[in-house]
Amino acid sequence: MSLDYPEKMTVEVESPYNGWILEQMISEEEIHARVKELGQEITRRYQDKTPILIAVLNGSFIFVADLIREMDIECEVDFIKLSSYMNETRSSGTVRLVKDISCNITDRDVIVIEDIVDSGLTVRFLKNRMEGSGPASVAFVTLLHKPDASKLDFELDYVGFQIPNKFVVGYGLDLDQKFRKLPAIYTVKETDSGS
Ligand code: IMP
Ligand code: MG
Repeated sequence: MSLDYPEKMTVEVESPYNGWILEQMISEEEIHARVKELGQEITRRYQDKTPILIAVLNGSFIFVADLIREMDIECEVDFIKLSSYMNETRSSGTVRLVKDISCNITDRDVIVIEDIVDSGLTVRFLKNRMEGSGPASVAFVTLLHKPDASKLDFELDYVGFQIPNKFVVGYGLDLDQKFRKLPAIYTVKETDSGS
């Protein structure tokens, strides 16, 4: 399956949220098909291993729940929470650790699970954090990848979809805590809610 999302799938949908207009970018079916492929690829790579999946809160909680059920190997799951503050030049933002992992990853195979990589600042921070604990290996999975992330100085191991530089919500991703429960990925087109 192509990593680029198909333009023709872009259809306007009626938002269940009053006053907000969302436009579908990636359908529920496409997400599930791609998550299944990622699960199979990870299964092949970690065949005789028990990796620890470190999911980045809050956005990746739905993705990781679906992904582990598409993996045919034993794995462990833990969570990490970060907050990032962006300046106008996004590259000069800072990342703060809000909740660290609670497992020991020394000599373990770690797979970091992100919902979206935008500037790449967060995954850069995560790479340093993980490597500081001496894991056997560290891999990065992201469901979505924006163009700015191509400036990253290392390769992400698994990317679900390359998307344009637009703000997206749904399937765990939020805008001010809204829209996480939506089953597909949407761009927020406009609002007349006045809020
Ligand atoms: P980065 O550090 O710039 O790569 O940003 C990563 C984080 O910003 C993600 O983990 C998300 O929490 C958030 N983020 C970036 N782009 C979007 C978006 O389009 N929708 C929702 N959250 C986003
Ligand atoms: Mg995130």
